[in-house]
Amino acid sequence: MRSWTFLGVLSLLLVESSAFKAHDFKTCSQSGFCRRGRALSARAKEARSSWKSPYSVDASSVAISSDQASFTAGVKSSLYPDITFGLEVRVHDDGVVRVRMDEIGGLKKHYDEAASWALIAEPNISRDIQWKTGKKEVRAVYGDKKDIEVLVEFAPLRVSLLRSGREQIVLNGQGLLHMEHFRNKAAAESKTEEPAAVEGEVANGAEEVQTVIKSENPRAWFEGDSEDAYWEETFSSWTDSKPKGPESLSIDINFPNHGTVYGIPQHATRLALPSTTGDSPTFSDPYRLWNSDVFEYLASSPVSLYGSIPVLHAHSTDTTVGIFDAVASETWIDIGHVSDKSTETHWISESGILDLFLMPGPTPEAIFKQYARLTGTPVLPAAWSLGYHQCRWNYVSSDDVRSVQKRFDEEDMPVDVFWLDIEYSEDHKYFMWNDKTFPDPVEMVNDVAAVGRKMVVIVDPHLKRTSEYPAYQEASKLEVLVKPPSGQGEYEGWCWSGSSSWTDFFNPAAWDWWKSLFKTYPLESGWSWTKSTDAVHIWNDMNEPSVFNGPEISMPRDNIHYGGWEHRDVHNINGMLFSNHTYQAVAERSDPRQRPFVLTRSFYAGSQRFGAMWTGDNLGTWEHMAVGIKMVLSNSIAGMSFAGSDVGGFFGNPEPEMLVRWYQVGAFAPFFRAHAHIDTKRREPYLLDEPYKGIVRDILRLRYTQLPVWYTAFRETTVTGLPILRPQYVMFPKDKNGFDIDDQYYIGSSGLLIKPVTTKDATEATVYIAEDQVSCFTVYYDYFTHHAYRGASKGKEITVPAALHQIPLFVRGGSILPTRERPRRSSTLMKHDPFTLRVALSKTGTAHGELYLDDGETYSHEKGQFIWRQFTAEKTAKKSKALRISSRDLATEKPSEAVDGVALTTFNPANEFAKSIEDIRVEKIVVVGLNGKPSSVRVEGGAELVWEYTPGHAASEKKEGVASLLSIKDPKVLVAKDWDIVVQY
Ligand SMILES: *[C@@H]1O[C@H](CO)[C@@H](O)[C@H](O)[C@H]1NC(C)=O
Ligand SMILES: *[C@@H]1O[C@H](CO)[C@@H](O)[C@H](O)[C@H]1NC(C)=O
Repeated sequence: MRSWTFLGVLSLLLVESSAFKAHDFKTCSQSGFCRRGRALSARAKEARSSWKSPYSVDASSVAISSDQASFTAGVKSSLYPDITFGLEVRVHDDGVVRVRMDEIGGLKKHYDEAASWALIAEPNISRDIQWKTGKKEVRAVYGDKKDIEVLVEFAPLRVSLLRSGREQIVLNGQGLLHMEHFRNKAAAESKTEEPAAVEGEVANGAEEVQTVIKSENPRAWFEGDSEDAYWEETFSSWTDSKPKGPESLSIDINFPNHGTVYGIPQHATRLALPSTTGDSPTFSDPYRLWNSDVFEYLASSPVSLYGSIPVLHAHSTDTTVGIFDAVASETWIDIGHVSDKSTETHWISESGILDLFLMPGPTPEAIFKQYARLTGTPVLPAAWSLGYHQCRWNYVSSDDVRSVQKRFDEEDMPVDVFWLDIEYSEDHKYFMWNDKTFPDPVEMVNDVAAVGRKMVVIVDPHLKRTSEYPAYQEASKLEVLVKPPSGQGEYEGWCWSGSSSWTDFFNPAAWDWWKSLFKTYPLESGWSWTKSTDAVHIWNDMNEPSVFNGPEISMPRDNIHYGGWEHRDVHNINGMLFSNHTYQAVAERSDPRQRPFVLTRSFYAGSQRFGAMWTGDNLGTWEHMAVGIKMVLSNSIAGMSFAGSDVGGFFGNPEPEMLVRWYQVGAFAPFFRAHAHIDTKRREPYLLDEPYKGIVRDILRLRYTQLPVWYTAFRETTVTGLPILRPQYVMFPKDKNGFDIDDQYYIGSSGLLIKPVTTKDATEATVYIAEDQVSCFTVYYDYFTHHAYRGASKGKEITVPAALHQIPLFVRGGSILPTRERPRRSSTLMKHDPFTLRVALSKTGTAHGELYLDDGETYSHEKGQFIWRQFTAEKTAKKSKALRISSRDLATEKPSEAVDGVALTTFNPANEFAKSIEDIRVEKIVVVGLNGKPSSVRVEGGAELVWEYTPGHAASEKKEGVASLLSIKDPKVLVAKDWDIVVQY
């Protein structure tokens, strides 16, 4: 978080706490390489068909490796005959195509390590592929049905991916590919003497373009005639020395048969990305990826925020495809919806090589799997971290923490985690407690941990430069700090801690040292955090990195990292490395290892392997509440499933109604935390008056009853990569009505559908319910009232009550939800609670659900210490009037799908964990939509059970209204055992 009040104290800049400061951040036209890239695109558009890419494959250089693994070729630009680029195309065993291009034998090296940080492993190459070389192209056909084709056309260079003969992804179809080769400044300067056709931005009018094309200077035709910002660039008061000169990369990536695109988080905008090439004044700049600490960000904008994931999905009723651009430098992306059936995109990056992964889909589910095989699935979090988190800048003392905890308990509000922001530390030297306000940190943490709760404490990356700070002293001695442009000494900038330096996590020498700081016992080798315990987890903020007196509130681009790379080359990865090493540090501080919780603000492709993110410093406004949902969805489909927005908004004092609605939003986000700026009034939920307080208590409890659903959904994403929050297009990829919907979503495979209300004075909400293509009249039940709503063949909007105490929450017919309905103070205290099964019958009278459970804290699940159950409800025979509800072990059935990354060839259902919970009962089964009053309900072969029946509509009736309800009390079955209950009706 940032506050200009504090900057004022530091007297660095003028104090003004009004709003987003556009002038702090570059627009495309203030960024040299973006300006060049966009001018290229503008000239191409003006010149239309006469525009031809100068890049072509040198046919004589084409080589197919003997194992058919890859196709390589030299690429030349007609403008620079002396420069050679190397192109490599590979097809992975899952059909993903990797396209790499780099300059060969250049004056310098382009940064080529982004993929190595993002990928979990070097992918395996497909063995069932044959490259066919022609005179003008090379092609390969593959896939189970041999319906996928990758085609590389030579002149001009054009790479396309086709399915069933239809183009899915096309690279350089518009001829915007341009990899600026390294050049020599002196040589370049002498060349500027060449005649220039037109000054400045050449493509401002058709006439000018004609001039350029006819001119004797084809380079100017392609690159523009001025060496715009090649060697030095100034923004505001900062000058970027650009020692390597121009090295940017431009490429157009088109989706000729896909009208909707999603992804490239993080931006505050809709899930289906608006066009940036039309006439929208808000979306007139390309989407920017440059991790930034943006103060009071706008609720609708292509401006870059804290994290960057260069992943895009292109979607149509036909197929879904995706791309992952492994680039870590600043990247701008123009998106143009040519029609509702076709999308053009243009990617402009400041440095790096071309390293593109084309994901063939053909469904959203397939894309998630393909992307997860590249960059990994989200890590399974500690179970407690799915509970409610209470944060504030700042709980000011250990007694403050204790009294906040006391108030939660007095009000019977569940909470799992209390957070400490930067003021716990002495002079913002993280790890070091302020002895006056936190004289007894270990006792404080123990008091919180006594009821199974945890604390999360902030550790930011800026290290205060003082001899009184062991963390800084040790990093300095190890020489693992980021260096200034000279490459000598330590870069110094300003942040919370005043004069600060930053650890360079690209340097492996920093890794073990960073881990050592988190040990809770004394070390001989150096300082360790003895005033901490295993119940303390970590919040990594400010890791873009945020530097108060740096360009665009970050580091100078010409700072030097390990290996001699400039900050510009690695900027967007920087935050991921910080949270990775914190994650490793917290995991390894205890033996056996405990699952860490690490929250990060900055992230990149692959960050899902290290924990949770949140959407940063949002505002307490309805607009921010609404856009937060869209941002979380966008992050989710790009791999960052463990995501949430600050409940209440970071800035401002939300009125009670808004706060209540915000709790309803937060309770349906994977990461559920309330947070507030230091200048805001206290707003812990127990401070609310009635009826607001009671409503929020109910919301918190609802979240806790549904924790088994959330945990099961998290387990699924760790194996499959499918997001936890699933927007409409993911659930119903063929239903066009759902493509733009981003204010309602499903939770995992549970069948829960939520539409949080984000407007003032609402009494109703409209919810879109889709059909899968096969069944009409799909039934959705209101979670609370069991009112049955019906779909229609082309999808349908329903209007539902949504007064302040009402949450539009539905269960899709056909689902079984495991819940735990006994209110407790924390999730840890629920570990031995019995379960309720909510059976919501489909119109054909069936239902299915899953439950995954493990100890929630260690890694023993990777060794088979867990249970994975399947619950089903179906008729005992086709025309019978009996419903069988049963419980089976899924892990024995599908051991390889049970745990991510761990090949469990055998699973023992009687493992230690399963034994530890073997006496946990199902205390209640509720069946919604049964077709008539039962005549008997019994465990198969057993005695009659106690049950109650409330008449109502049957699932099969196709009618709307309150559904019938059968409630079986204490069915005398255990959650982790096989059983069958038969309901005769
Ligand atoms: C590549 O193949 C090997 C051998 O079959 C396998 O062990 C490895 O896990 C595979 N790697 C990936 C990333 O799929
Ligand atoms: C994460 O940290 C481990 C060492 O603990 C390292 O091997 C790995 O490369 C790191 N990955 C990233 C993305 O930082």
